[in-house]
Amino acid sequence: MIPAHDTVVCAFPGNERVGFDVAMSIGAELGLMEWRHFPDGESHVRLLTDPRGREVIIVATQHRPDEQFLALAFLADAARELGAVRVGLLAPYLAYLRQDRRFRRGDAVSSRSFARLLSRVVDWMVTADPHLHRLTSLAEVYDIPARAVDVAPALGAWVQANVEAPLIVGPDSESERWARAVAAAAGAPLLMLSKVRRGDADVQVRLPATLPGRSHTPVLVDDIISTGRTAADAARRLRDAGFRAPVCAAVHALFAGNAEEELARAGIARVVTSNTIRHPTNAIDVVPALVAAIPHGARPPGPAGARRTPREMPHTEGSAR
Ligand code: R5P
Repeated sequence: MIPAHDTVVCAFPGNERVGFDVAMSIGAELGLMEWRHFPDGESHVRLLTDPRGREVIIVATQHRPDEQFLALAFLADAARELGAVRVGLLAPYLAYLRQDRRFRRGDAVSSRSFARLLSRVVDWMVTADPHLHRLTSLAEVYDIPARAVDVAPALGAWVQANVEAPLIVGPDSESERWARAVAAAAGAPLLMLSKVRRGDADVQVRLPATLPGRSHTPVLVDDIISTGRTAADAARRLRDAGFRAPVCAAVHALFAGNAEEELARAGIARVVTSNTIRHPTNAIDVVPALVAAIPHGARPPGPAGARRTPREMPHTEGSAR
């Protein structure tokens, strides 16, 4: 059993709010770091809080992994070299899980490579709803203790409280595990669609031959909104079939390119996401669940004071419309 040490929480730029909430929840010090670029583009990272003899938790969501991976490695190394007992990563969104096999000859299997690299950088990791499709658990690719918290029950509770007569719709087979869990949590019926992806932003969604009554409000559920094309095409098909304007509920708001306009153009009534990636559509707070998953030795001694499930955020800001 690892004895409990004093803990420093260090939030990467863009993660300040989540970092602050994590530090307050576990009674840890909110550490300070600097990250800037030299004129030639190299990163200069500086840890301004003394990590000696302390647990260090880095809060860094991974939705721009190529831009920040080296800086993350530099910060973790600096913490360890300066005497940190252990360095953990709280990554509300974990990148590089979708390329989990060699689809075409010569493809790099980035889920494996990224996991191997990250496993050398930090000692443990906590994340929310990793995109495990063909992989069954993070342990298949990560060599460090890696825990994942489940946001679907909170999305289901949000749907139950906010949508009249919901019909949960999974737009493709990869969304099924989230759609099924949200339907169960919301006590709502489930409809699964199928999808063919021809390119990064070129998808075609198909409805099944038999559809439920049009009195339902369709709620499109997915773990990720990236280009928004999957949700947008599904929304168009549902509207063409006579359903009212769908709601879209997703865990990770990647919103690549013009995803917001795509969703609005497709007639989606409202988009709701969790705060694993900061975005105006965030309505579900995953911090309590992430905090509850932090290994016990990495938290300061004393009561954690954290709730165990993601919860609706007090103020929902905006939507994709
Ligand atoms: C399947 O292709 C994945 O689950 C996608 O990440 C998801 O469907 C969303 O992708 P996009 O928003 O780019 O259509």
